[in-house]
Amino acid sequence: MTDQQWVPGAPEATCLHLDCLWQPSEDDPAGRFVFELRNTGAMPVDGFRLAFTTLRFVERDPSANNARLLDRRGYFHEVAPPDGFRFVSGGVWRFSLGGITGEPLHRGEGIVSAYLTEADGERRTVAVGDLRREFPEQRIASGAASASPFALMPWPANVELMPSDRIPGYLVPADGATAEELSAVSSVMALFRRLFPTDPAPFSLMALPGDLLLRFAVDASLGREAYRLEFGADAVLITTADAAGCQHALMALGQLLRGARAGDGFRFPAGGHIVDRPRFAWRGCHLDTARRFFPVGDIARFLDCLAYLRINVFHWHLTDDEAWRLEIGGYPELTSAGSLRGPGAPLPPQLGDGAQASGGFYSHADVRALVSHASHLNIEIVPEIDIPGHSTAALAALPALADPAEPAGAYASVQGFANNALNPAIDLTWTMLEAVFDDLATLFPSPYLHVGGDEVAHGAWQSSPLAVRLMADLGLDGAEALQSHFMRRVQAMLRKRGRQLAGWNEVGNGEGVDAEGTLLTVWQKAAIGAGLARRGYDIVMAPAEAYYLDIAHSNGWDEIGMSWAGATSLETAYAYEVGDDIPAEILPRLRGIQACLWTELVDSRAHFNHLVFPRLAAVAEAGWTPAANKNWERFSMLNRFRPSM
Ligand code: ACM
Repeated sequence: MTDQQWVPGAPEATCLHLDCLWQPSEDDPAGRFVFELRNTGAMPVDGFRLAFTTLRFVERDPSANNARLLDRRGYFHEVAPPDGFRFVSGGVWRFSLGGITGEPLHRGEGIVSAYLTEADGERRTVAVGDLRREFPEQRIASGAASASPFALMPWPANVELMPSDRIPGYLVPADGATAEELSAVSSVMALFRRLFPTDPAPFSLMALPGDLLLRFAVDASLGREAYRLEFGADAVLITTADAAGCQHALMALGQLLRGARAGDGFRFPAGGHIVDRPRFAWRGCHLDTARRFFPVGDIARFLDCLAYLRINVFHWHLTDDEAWRLEIGGYPELTSAGSLRGPGAPLPPQLGDGAQASGGFYSHADVRALVSHASHLNIEIVPEIDIPGHSTAALAALPALADPAEPAGAYASVQGFANNALNPAIDLTWTMLEAVFDDLATLFPSPYLHVGGDEVAHGAWQSSPLAVRLMADLGLDGAEALQSHFMRRVQAMLRKRGRQLAGWNEVGNGEGVDAEGTLLTVWQKAAIGAGLARRGYDIVMAPAEAYYLDIAHSNGWDEIGMSWAGATSLETAYAYEVGDDIPAEILPRLRGIQACLWTELVDSRAHFNHLVFPRLAAVAEAGWTPAANKNWERFSMLNRFRPSM
């Protein structure tokens, strides 16, 4: 995207959390900073130093309590605990510093960033909370409570809440919380701070008067991703069976508090409960990073947005005609040549490209950072290498992939790319794919590797003498039969690596592949999905007419976006009900639903936000909320709380 990125890479998962309280003091005219550093990791940390930055820097005589100031230059500080301090898992180091330069007036004038240096020199990022101070007065909610005063998104399965006219300060784990529970709260706090940097964070790990305590319980009978919240006057009880459920519970709490702070009739609950579980196990969103390159920081932020909406599968479209974006060991040309477009570059300029060549690809280190970020957010990344069609970039990077006797322009894809299918009669196709699947299986823990399979041109391979001979040898008739053969061989390669095949619905064309363990993303007519499910394929429904986010919101001339699948207003996206398309007897094959964003026209952050949000929230609610609980009026009122890029 064109805008500058604030975060250069994926935020690191942290297992340390620093809170800071500003306190008035008789000895210090500008008051003191009281710090609490928590070890939210599973291991003790010894012999460390803590570095942090703050605008309100500490001057020469810090009158330090329970800490030594080792260094201070500008806004940078480094402190150490007293000798012999043992920082156990779940433990806290409290210390304070005086001598600060002026009384802070805003919550952003506390700790801006922090890291810890271990005895062996290893550095670790520390999550930081809002600067806290004590307020004598209770916060009162503003505006008359609206008809649906709880800012929850997606809406839960079961909500029985009484609105409060008071707003808690921060949501804080009660004493006795485990390191894992503290870490969960710290992570969701960090997510809110990244998504909504101008809002106060909902969570803190430092309890002050006016805060609401969080207590945690485990109930294995709740099931995956489920949670229960019971609201009392002094505490909320969070019951879950797994880490994803805990994240969803904390997200709901953070949303409730963010809504109540926004006023306008939104409230935090005074009592009652939420009992919630997902409608579908697969709540996906696809992003085409081939047509448009998104820096790692943008993908990381998109993952944050998905986590907020409880979307738990990121379908990462990594290759297409316009570019190959994934580093592959042994085939540097795929990315050096296959990701570069422009005048004189290996690939010609495509939509949005101008006089300057541009490109970009994801290194293995980039992918590892994003996979780690996603897994920390309980999101699975399903990578897609789109084969055998949509392969112009690979063919341009490695010309030996083409049959030299196939005439130029023998066939063209629907997008106008000539001779763009990998050729199954060429040995290099298979040696290259071995390397591709080796890397995919090493980099991505998902049980599924998505291999595309969409839109292979009807005329593909018919003019390649090598492919024609292969078809004759195998007794195959036509492109569909050869594609089926191709995909069966791919399926065997994936199985050898312990992975299952995912593909677009065309993978089921003709003979298809072995349906056992295969998942198909259905983007064409819904009836195709039902037919595939009847043949034993698992399906994820991504109907272009409702869930393709690149399609324009309306047919108005001034609207922007694609039009080949009509127009999709927010209300149309919200109204689509997958249960109407998939008969009850094959529902067990329906794994879930998915939004897709193709990016041919998406050349700015503004355009991205316009297309994706708010409709992604509609897909998210369809994936999470029981059909009977969907409510357009409530949804349209709550959509203002959505995240954006
Ligand atoms: C697709 O839209 N070609 C999957």
